[in-house]
Amino acid sequence: MCGIVGYIGNKKAAPIVLDGLKKLEYRGYDSCGIASCCTGIQIKKGVGKIEEVEKIHTLADIEGNLAIGHTRWATHGGVTDENAHPHSDCSGKICIVHNGIIENYESLKQDLTSKGHKFKSDTDTEIIAHLIEEYNKGDLKEAIFQALKKVEGAYALGIISSDEPDKLFAARKESPLIIGVGEGEGFIASDVPAIVNHTKKVMYLQNERVAVITKDDIEVFDLEGNKKKPIIREILWDAALIEKQGYDHFMLKEINEQPKAIEETINGRIKGDKVDLSEEIKLTDEEIKKISNIVIVACGTSWHAGLVGEFMLEELARVPVEVEYASEFRYRNPVLGKNSLIIAISQSGETADTLAAIKEAKAKGCRIISICNVMASSIARESDSVVLTHAGPEIGVASTKAFTSQLIVLYLITLYFGKIRGILDDFIVKCRIRDLRQLPLFMRAVLEDTEKIKDIAETYYNTSNSLYLGRGIEYPIALEGALKLKEISYIHAEGYPAAEMKHGPIALIDKNMPVVVVATQDNITYNKVLSNIEEVKARGGIIITVATKGDKVIASKSDTVIYIPKTSYILSPVLAVVPLQLLAYYIALKRGCNVDKPRNLAKSVTVE
Ligand code: AGP
Repeated sequence: MCGIVGYIGNKKAAPIVLDGLKKLEYRGYDSCGIASCCTGIQIKKGVGKIEEVEKIHTLADIEGNLAIGHTRWATHGGVTDENAHPHSDCSGKICIVHNGIIENYESLKQDLTSKGHKFKSDTDTEIIAHLIEEYNKGDLKEAIFQALKKVEGAYALGIISSDEPDKLFAARKESPLIIGVGEGEGFIASDVPAIVNHTKKVMYLQNERVAVITKDDIEVFDLEGNKKKPIIREILWDAALIEKQGYDHFMLKEINEQPKAIEETINGRIKGDKVDLSEEIKLTDEEIKKISNIVIVACGTSWHAGLVGEFMLEELARVPVEVEYASEFRYRNPVLGKNSLIIAISQSGETADTLAAIKEAKAKGCRIISICNVMASSIARESDSVVLTHAGPEIGVASTKAFTSQLIVLYLITLYFGKIRGILDDFIVKCRIRDLRQLPLFMRAVLEDTEKIKDIAETYYNTSNSLYLGRGIEYPIALEGALKLKEISYIHAEGYPAAEMKHGPIALIDKNMPVVVVATQDNITYNKVLSNIEEVKARGGIIITVATKGDKVIASKSDTVIYIPKTSYILSPVLAVVPLQLLAYYIALKRGCNVDKPRNLAKSVTVE
């Protein structure tokens, strides 16, 4: 949700910032711009993806060793050249880029207008530049402190001024921002991919902190001006991970990385025949035994992972679980007890709704475990403990490998809790671990056999509607398959529990309606799903099934079957989702859609 990059050092800044912005384009891509400081501030910006704006404005051509840049996902103000960032004050000397939302911008704008400030855009961001100008009496840092104390909402900011051309200022509240430390140079960025080619030393700026970065130093302050110690960490990422490595799209690369991602996520967490999460979860056995209920909070694909987790935890650890949309959770005064446990799931670790849900639960005295793919992200830091998914950076806006890695973590937590709570004995845990260890191999088999999926895409890419059905643990996979299709191909797709179809959606079925059914054999409702398939067929609908290898019964009832290897029912979602990811991918490709940067979406949704 908007990406920001900044550079200060001895090199020409604009090309470095431009390169960083390209790596952050997954965060927003409706407009972009760069401001550089040389003999004054020069700004170049415009509407469109970076590649398009670059052609018109030659963004990298601006001189100067200090620059900030922005790629936008519009919130306040339409997608216009004027609303593209960077924004400046009346004098044109102070220039800022912003990610977040300033909630009290209207009253601030009125006040500043009455004091004579002239605004050029409709954004909430521009008021910050004017507010800093208003407080600036010759010390920009002081003015930033004053301005930020007036601001309500979320911000990650990069600020430069032609009056202080040897300083890059950064500030953060809720929205993510990292500072990169190089040899004689400094960087700011919304996310690691923007700077990992230049440095692996980063500092995660904390909430309500201002950083003053020169080419040789970083100073960090709270809004009262008290100096804080910067904590520098080493990023373990390999820069190659954020390249496409021969794939046409990040999404396809990430789908294919799933066997590796789940192996990495399992690694180190199984000791002998036991799952050991004690160091990560940091709960004593006594505390785990006392858990009265679990509430999973998440959004989008991570929410779907939560629904699978609910099934796993209730089935194998016998703990009552509820799964909540994080965006709804905090507005309904949830009933939580002192032994309720919250599990927050988020790939990015920055989703504002999930962060807000965590804060709500914390205020009610609950303990929070998060499942995140980004170490030191806001959600990871807000939580009492974190179990990381080791999926590696996920760049494609449509989440794939993060999802399957989340399922693996939920399964590991389930086995860990189930054993400690006395529900699972050693033998069962051993068998369940054996099932888990087979998954990467099975998944590779699914990924090697994509011809059928490409054929289905070829046949149905022109459809305008589709239905995805599943029951039990496969219902969230139907939801996820439908979400993937809508996100990247813009085909209307609905996920439904198969048995619910007859209560309404069946009215939609006709000969033009493809119905994707997830139905692996090993479950008590399998026969009932077969009846649902008959109901669709009786109305002329087209049946595409994801089924277990060797299932001839379902083949006789389907127009097309995609087979997955047989695994335990509880792990079948990890395999069943892969053909649906690929189906969405190939359909979107046939429709000429921008798979990695679907319209209106952004990778990390840092606004509520
Ligand atoms: C997934 O394909 C989506 N782009 C989206 O639903 C995403 O899962 C959601 O915004 C939550 O993101 P998070 O996992 O980073 O919190």
